[in-house]
Amino acid sequence: MRKLIAGNWKMNGLISSQAEIQALKGLTGSATCDIVVCPPFTLIDRAVERAKDSKLVIGAQDCHAQRSGAHTGEISAEMLADIGARYVILGHSERRVSYGEDDEIVLAKAVAAHRAGLIAIVCVGETRHERDEGRAIEVVGEQLRESVPEGATSANLVIAYEPVWAIGTGLVPTNEQIEEVHAAIRQMLEERLGRDGNSVRILYGGSVKASNAAVIFGLRNVDGALVGGASLKASEFAGIISAAV
Ligand code: 13P
Repeated sequence: MRKLIAGNWKMNGLISSQAEIQALKGLTGSATCDIVVCPPFTLIDRAVERAKDSKLVIGAQDCHAQRSGAHTGEISAEMLADIGARYVILGHSERRVSYGEDDEIVLAKAVAAHRAGLIAIVCVGETRHERDEGRAIEVVGEQLRESVPEGATSANLVIAYEPVWAIGTGLVPTNEQIEEVHAAIRQMLEERLGRDGNSVRILYGGSVKASNAAVIFGLRNVDGALVGGASLKASEFAGIISAAV
């Protein structure tokens, strides 16, 4: 399966950061993987313009479940599609933890993303405490079952396994732990979507860097990465992209 490398800029980036988009655009010509960058809402429009005529694809980091209405401060999936975003990250642990997003909310947002024609990158992952209790697969399984909408296919759904304790910490699960969870996600996707579940891309996220990407990409059922800190500089992100052969 062709790998997908997605950069999540989180709450980083000013107009001057467009230089990074420009640099990434240059890399996509020869890349053997799909590359998505999800900048903050304020930069999506400009990034789409800049990525025009290249294979660089722009996404967003969240959306509201409703199409429009009295939701001060929110952005709908339709608005994102309108400005040329093609992907949206949903259920990131930072949103689950800091903004109280539960599976029901993530599901509603994923339904909205599909309604607007966006590809949903649904994030799942256990906390340190849940892993220590031996509940990683149970937790990820429940998140997956509860937040993947009816009508999901390999064309409109990507799953990102991001252990909460590995995000921004420099800690990475062992290869065996990554393979174990990715295999469980694959099995659940097949149970849910039939044979098409085999074609849904499952990304690993959490402290991915140029130095560990090749090993992670070599693991079974790892179809790419969702990258935070190391996606902010095109030079570092380029190292991850070139590891995805
Ligand atoms: P880091 O790559 O900075 O650990 O962040 C991962 C992440 O949260 C991507 O969504």
